Amino acid sequence: MKITLKPTSPNKISSDVVIVFSFQGEEVSAITDKSLLELIKKSMQREHFEGKEGEKITISPGSLAGAYKILIVGLGDSNKFESEEIRNSMGKALSFAKSLSPQTVSILPPESWMKKMDLEYLLSTLTEAVHLSSYTFNKYKSEDPKKKKDIEEISFLISPGKLSMAEKGITEGTIHARATQFTRDLVNEPPDLTTPAYLAKVAKDIADKSEGTIKATIYDQVEIEKIGMNAFLGVAKGSSEPPKFIHLSYRPKKSKKKVVLIGKGITFDTGGLSLKPAQSMETMKLDMAGAAAVLGVFKALKDVSPDVSVVGLIAACENMPSGSAMRPGDILKAMSGKTIEVLNTDAEGRLTLADGLSYAVLKEKPDVIIDLATLTGACIVALGEDITGLFSNNPALAQSIEKASRETGEKLWQLPLPKIYKELIKSHIADIKNIQTGKYGGAITAALFLEEFVGNIPWAHLDIAGPSYAEKPSSLTPIGGTGYGVRLLLKYLKNI
Ligand code: BES
Ligand code: ZN
Ligand code: ZN
Repeated sequence: MKITLKPTSPNKISSDVVIVFSFQGEEVSAITDKSLLELIKKSMQREHFEGKEGEKITISPGSLAGAYKILIVGLGDSNKFESEEIRNSMGKALSFAKSLSPQTVSILPPESWMKKMDLEYLLSTLTEAVHLSSYTFNKYKSEDPKKKKDIEEISFLISPGKLSMAEKGITEGTIHARATQFTRDLVNEPPDLTTPAYLAKVAKDIADKSEGTIKATIYDQVEIEKIGMNAFLGVAKGSSEPPKFIHLSYRPKKSKKKVVLIGKGITFDTGGLSLKPAQSMETMKLDMAGAAAVLGVFKALKDVSPDVSVVGLIAACENMPSGSAMRPGDILKAMSGKTIEVLNTDAEGRLTLADGLSYAVLKEKPDVIIDLATLTGACIVALGEDITGLFSNNPALAQSIEKASRETGEKLWQLPLPKIYKELIKSHIADIKNIQTGKYGGAITAALFLEEFVGNIPWAHLDIAGPSYAEKPSSLTPIGGTGYGVRLLLKYLKNI
């Protein structure tokens, strides 16, 4: 699909479908041709179209315009519009348009959107929505004879003086969306393919194609043992798939800061000997979504080129039950020297992250660490499926992540790291234990566990257990991996 800009007015456009938006109780803006506007008004009246959210009508303009159909899409109240609503309504409008099987579609963004945000940001937002809502993962389906042909070209209608600003937005939106789709693919692939070795190969590929801007180093079993990542190895030892520690680094010409991104990379989470029930295991290929997001960010870094050094770390392994698996009761010594009593082998993510975080602190000495992890079901209980739990030991860092989140529409909510709960993860036999005493506040105690390994480096933890995977389709995502975090982190890095 090609995205282009067209400087003409809607009546002169020859696309198969022209999408025009309408707010409730307001006139359709940006249409200057009188007779076309007349026809639109009449049709709206006849079909009782009020511009409510989700309403739509199609008009055949005949000789009044070059288009075959004009699709008017209701947006509801114009005051309630934020970037997230713009993305969603763009996605919905396109799915309406697709029912008309067009090859070419033109889109007329309403005036009020242009007033609300600068044109570059608007076009980047719209471009993201166009790409993300068109995403499918069909490679394992036998050919569907009814499969519609994809739209070939989508054009935004922009006034002639603003084309170069708009072009920049399209470029950024496309980079962000491609990286997100790359991450979605990785999460959607079956877990017998996306093994630790596969993730390592993906990292190598990214480096190979980066024209020297990105380096990838892979540590295997022996090297992981050498640096003392025994918490990570404890999780890995139940599986016949060998673990890989993936190290990516991006270095710009001038660098303001060094940020380490860590992604939880459990390529499949059975729970280990503390085996999950069958239903809870169904989607557990998603347990590398944090790692996939970090890989997605690196995929885009060359093109986004932020002035920040970025290191990506992934402790990739599979959590399996077997004769060689770690047991509840085992004690593991993390790279930092802290000892961990394992009481539940299904709380494995924090064990691999403990070593990822220790590595970051001891070997990288970064200014900021951000980890992304599908860490706890408890976070989904607390915030629902669509909102990430944000934890941080540094208010300024939390604020800049919140800012990026508002800009990209990837929702999150900060949860506390209360000292009084540290009591709940104390072990009578080791320094800490990997599950808490009692059953409440599991997302928080998991985050407190991670905090044990970050020292005093500004750190943020994103528990993406809910938002990384969609159990039902929405206007921007089909069922499956959502690519949560990719755009958020790219925006965060760019904002620095
Ligand atoms: N990978 C899971 C968390 C998860 C649950 C992600 C649902 C996505 C959807 C994690 O490793 C896990 O199993 N956590 C346990 C922790 C418990 C044993 C303390 C959980 O959340 O139940
Ligand atoms: Zn688990
Ligand atoms: Zn897990």
